[in-house]
Amino acid sequence: MKKFKKILAKKNRSKIICLTAYSKNIAEEVDKYADIVLVGDSLGSVLYNYSSTRKVTLTEMINHSKSVRLGIKKSLMVVDMPYKTYDTNFSALKNAKKIIKETKCDAVKLEGGKKIIKQVKFLIKNKIPVMGHLGLLPQFAKGKFKSKGKTSREIKQLISDALFLQREGVFAIVLECVKSSVAKQITQSLNIPTIGIGSSIFCDGQVLVTDDLLGLNQTKIKFVKRFLNLKKHINIGLKKFSSEVKLKKYPSKKYSY
Ligand code: KIV
Repeated sequence: MKKFKKILAKKNRSKIICLTAYSKNIAEEVDKYADIVLVGDSLGSVLYNYSSTRKVTLTEMINHSKSVRLGIKKSLMVVDMPYKTYDTNFSALKNAKKIIKETKCDAVKLEGGKKIIKQVKFLIKNKIPVMGHLGLLPQFAKGKFKSKGKTSREIKQLISDALFLQREGVFAIVLECVKSSVAKQITQSLNIPTIGIGSSIFCDGQVLVTDDLLGLNQTKIKFVKRFLNLKKHINIGLKKFSSEVKLKKYPSKKYSY
């Protein structure tokens, strides 16, 4: 409960940092900077080259989350519920319980607003903490990723979905690819924090896929800023290893039994 309160207390005070992790070693580093570590189903495209997050299975999410758990000391850990695992109240509760029991995460994230509100309500009634996700919903997007909140119908829908989710008790809402002015309006209308991804500076926090910001995953999405070219650093190390092996410099006596 303390972790949730800490995140809520940041609204209108300081920015919330949310980062993805899919394994222990990255989770250990991310944990030092993040308030929330998200095991996102983006792992489907980032790690497995899936054409859509729809192909990600519950088993894959649980296995990666178990590894991530080992790397987290302080952050709140959230796990994405994969596509088709929360179609009904019954399946949502059964699968969320399984995720929490096996991974020891703190909360689950579901994509959608009014359409999934019954499941959200049911999970929260059963003491499962839920994070919302509105705007571009990768599990339901068809074709190219487009920004949301361009028409008055979309704006109305987004605002009402956000209010619905808040009313049912989600502790925060991810806003993906939502127009700046709309993200601002939603953020100002809510008592709970919004976490933006491609949704402007006006959100209460920001999330990015860690592999994207570190340059491990080469993507050309508009909102992705590459903060480091980690591939370059990895190549320096691998090249050194390869060359020392070929020159018979490694393993020297120091590294041999
Ligand atoms: O799957 C994911 O990583 C996500 C975030 C990028 C918000 O949902």
